[in-house]
Amino acid sequence: MVNKVTKAIFPVAGLGTRFLPATKSIPKEIMTLVDRPLIQYAIDEAREAGITDFIFVTARGKSALEDYFDSNPELEKTLARKGKTELLEQLRDTDMESGAIAYIRQREARGLGHAVWCARRLVSANEPFAVLLPDDVIAGRVGCLKQMVEAYQEVGGNMVAAMEVDPERVSNYGVIDPSDSDGRMIAAKGMVEKPSQHDAPSNLAVIGRYILRPEVFASLEKQKAGAGGEVQLTDAICAQIGKGAPVTGYLFEGERYDCGSKAGYLQATVAFGLARPELHDEFREYIEALTSLLRAAE
Ligand code: UTP
Repeated sequence: MVNKVTKAIFPVAGLGTRFLPATKSIPKEIMTLVDRPLIQYAIDEAREAGITDFIFVTARGKSALEDYFDSNPELEKTLARKGKTELLEQLRDTDMESGAIAYIRQREARGLGHAVWCARRLVSANEPFAVLLPDDVIAGRVGCLKQMVEAYQEVGGNMVAAMEVDPERVSNYGVIDPSDSDGRMIAAKGMVEKPSQHDAPSNLAVIGRYILRPEVFASLEKQKAGAGGEVQLTDAICAQIGKGAPVTGYLFEGERYDCGSKAGYLQATVAFGLARPELHDEFREYIEALTSLLRAAE
């Protein structure tokens, strides 16, 4: 019997250098897609999957993120007084129950693996936990983490979200060395972080959703910096292979946007803007006019 997944770690302590100068003072995770910060999409996905305990690994300069999850009684009172019930409801939808969020500091940005390790004392032995990277935004009928949690009940062990990428782009990702596959599940016999196209064992990239067993903390504890001089989560998960708990890649259904990169963020903005009923017509008209202008200029 696999234990229920109720805890999630959100590593948000990265420097976000690809979005400088904005990230000098704005945490990347607070940047908005239409009107919701990236972190809200990740929280909503986690809630849909049954997560009740949220652990944020933060750092210096991220206080806007903590403020975002605080209540704002003054704003609520004003909206109520003005009868803006719809806005008030939207605001309340983002409320987090007292005690549901814990903040842990990563003192130095030493990589994703190190950020996850910083939360080790908040996870009990034998308790599987999720990790969500808010800069990977995944749109789909059913949230990616919910899909994974359901599949996880069958296989347990460690699970990573996976998707096929253009072979020329594998060097941007952790890549799975597959041994077997069954529908959406891929058994991994290895994993490599940011391989060259030539050395990549497949084009199955690891995306920022994980369900892990706490044994991964012991591997992270021992681990030296890997690719890019950072402590890599992929390496610690890979170290679990052959130790009794399988590592499974889950080919999720949905569209993933890499909002940690400028191009991915802009694509997501367009896609999420078009998906909003109240914006769709006006936005579509604009995009169509822009497209014909671009065509005419070619
Ligand atoms: P990225 O690799 O996107 O790094 O981190 P980054 O620092 O956020 O952005 P760039 O590359 O400088 O532009 C992936 C996830 O891991 C977190 C980030 O906050 C992001 O959610 N992370 C990364 C940490 O929490 N700590 C770290 O030391 C590194």
